[in-house]
Amino acid sequence: MTNKIKNRIEQLTRELQEHNHNYYVLDRPTISDFEFDKLLKELTELETKHPEFALPDSPTLRVGGEPTKDFLTVTHRYQFLSLSNTYSEQEIRDFDNRVKKTIGNQLEYVCELKYDGVAIGLTYRKGLLVQAVTRGDGIQGDDITENAKTVRSIPLRLKNDYPDELEIRGEVFFPLENFKRLNTDRVEQGEEPYANPRNTASGTLKMQDPKEVARRKLDCFLYFMPEENELITTHYEALNYASKLGFKVSKNSALCKSLDEIFEYIHDWDAGRYQLPYEIDGIVIKVNDIRQQKILGFTAKSPRWAIAYKFKAERVETVLESISYQVGRTGAVTPVANLRPILLAGTTVKRASLHNADIIAKLDVREGDHVYVEKGGEIIPKIVGVNFDKRRQESRQSEFINNCPECGNALYRQEGEAAHYCPNEDHCPPQIKGRLEHFISRKAMNIDSLGEGKIEMLYENGLVENVADLYDLSYDQLLGLEKIIPSEEGKPDKRISFREKTSEKIISGIASSGNIPFQKVLYALGIRHVGETIAKKLSYYFRNIEALMHASFEELVNVEEIGDKIAESVVNYFSKQEHKKIISRLAESGLQLSIPEEGEERSDILRGKSFVVSGVFENHSRDEIKNLVDQHGGKNTGTISSKTDYVLAGEKMGPSKKQKAEKLGIPIITESDFEEMIGK
Ligand code: IVH
Repeated sequence: MTNKIKNRIEQLTRELQEHNHNYYVLDRPTISDFEFDKLLKELTELETKHPEFALPDSPTLRVGGEPTKDFLTVTHRYQFLSLSNTYSEQEIRDFDNRVKKTIGNQLEYVCELKYDGVAIGLTYRKGLLVQAVTRGDGIQGDDITENAKTVRSIPLRLKNDYPDELEIRGEVFFPLENFKRLNTDRVEQGEEPYANPRNTASGTLKMQDPKEVARRKLDCFLYFMPEENELITTHYEALNYASKLGFKVSKNSALCKSLDEIFEYIHDWDAGRYQLPYEIDGIVIKVNDIRQQKILGFTAKSPRWAIAYKFKAERVETVLESISYQVGRTGAVTPVANLRPILLAGTTVKRASLHNADIIAKLDVREGDHVYVEKGGEIIPKIVGVNFDKRRQESRQSEFINNCPECGNALYRQEGEAAHYCPNEDHCPPQIKGRLEHFISRKAMNIDSLGEGKIEMLYENGLVENVADLYDLSYDQLLGLEKIIPSEEGKPDKRISFREKTSEKIISGIASSGNIPFQKVLYALGIRHVGETIAKKLSYYFRNIEALMHASFEELVNVEEIGDKIAESVVNYFSKQEHKKIISRLAESGLQLSIPEEGEERSDILRGKSFVVSGVFENHSRDEIKNLVDQHGGKNTGTISSKTDYVLAGEKMGPSKKQKAEKLGIPIITESDFEEMIGK
């Protein structure tokens, strides 16, 4: 029996490893996420019951283990070299001349992308990942093994014929999509977004909680093996070898025989880099033949056989016409640069964020200045400097506003925070509107009939001031409301008017939000620092709003993942009379303010998955199925698109839907598959 379990654990570990490799390294999954999760769940359960059989390279380790207190300092076996940087084609010609002087004209280069991330070294012994170290100062770095294990594309065990010991180096980076998601979540929680993917990747690798590192979903390309290997004679072969061992190696490397080919590669990627799902800051040119590399050798810091060409961040000059200030839902005031429109990296830029008062002061940027705007692969263009030669004499130093541009209240700045805040949370219009918008948003109460400027209309007509007011709205109040939104130049104005159908839809949309589970209602309230994940934690822990409202600071910080900042914010929120009143009105309106007892199971097992439910089912009505999708954290959508994860098909599903699903390769599942998914 125990032998059987041990074998099953081994088999699951191998199988899951293979699927992991297919998905994260090759980008070619062969099973659905659902099937993968099922196998992973089986393995997790077996390992919990029989920890003695868990393997050191188990895929269950990917979610992150215990927190790290201090990172050990490790001395590198081979110095971590860097590359000399160039910015001009002439310098590449010089490099080529130097190389040719030493080794003659028989020569080939490999051109590679220069990933803008954090250098990392991985050590494998007998095929197992035993250590991951940051570059540090090149001589010593930090041991961040536990964090590296959460990076799904870093193999925990090597494939095929591996040597007894292997060291390999590469770059850990933040995929842009994941970086954007992290920032959206932060902004939603009232926190400052991170400035750029590279620094955030670096900060993430040094986090003490590997579970948080796992959630952020970093990625890693490998490109260099410092050890000698007789069987490998060129760098290009080394890359292929690394790929065979299971590492993620970029497919964008190219062999180049001439300077012209190198320049072509550079030009192609200078233009093409904005299409990549990660950032690069240049390209690297390496002599391909390892024997030739050895002849060329090293300087104190970098190899003589390689050079980095850094892209110039695309930079333009334009006029800063004015600085305006935006007030967000949390009251944070963000300065915005209004620019004379200008073309930059393919898009017209009119505005750029100036972040906060410190940045304005540091740049000494003033209205009327000619400023340099850059898009260095970063997502939002930024002002990087001022052309002081063109500054007008009468220009005046920028002063951050002292009062809220919307409600006039004096702004305040908390110690240690860069942002200014407007304290008038209950009466400052953009804060009120922002909170209402947040309340109805997709991840919160999901009242989509109120989207697209409709909240603003209700507010401006004095119909809603807080979220509880929404539930007192009547059809008669809505019918006939109208607003004309002036449009941009040349386009017709937009008119929103509430006719019968719109008004009905709004009322019924609000009413059906009564089914939204407690954790989402809690998130919808918009308590500062209480994002989706924290709302879920709190609601499962306290079970109902009463208990949460009466929780003390000490009780709150006892909950896993709840720190001082969140606890303080929750206590502060519920201490206000006005908020207590809103909660009791929401309760009267029938919102879900507790987690249902057993029987009506809820979970987030379908989180992030979108379903199209179609046809007639045996055990449930179609609406029941849709409710189940909802209750388990999934999303219902009406039409099949590339974003659909599953089509849940009953009898009599239309043939066109089936065809579409098949064409897009979306798994079609049955009612019983679905029941299994939600553990019914
Ligand atoms: S090769 C001895 N290849 O750029 C050769 N480096 O200043 C070592 N980098 O520290 C580096 N992409 O962090 C190499 N394709 C690539 C690279 C790359 C990014 C980073 C690496 C290195 C720095 C050089």
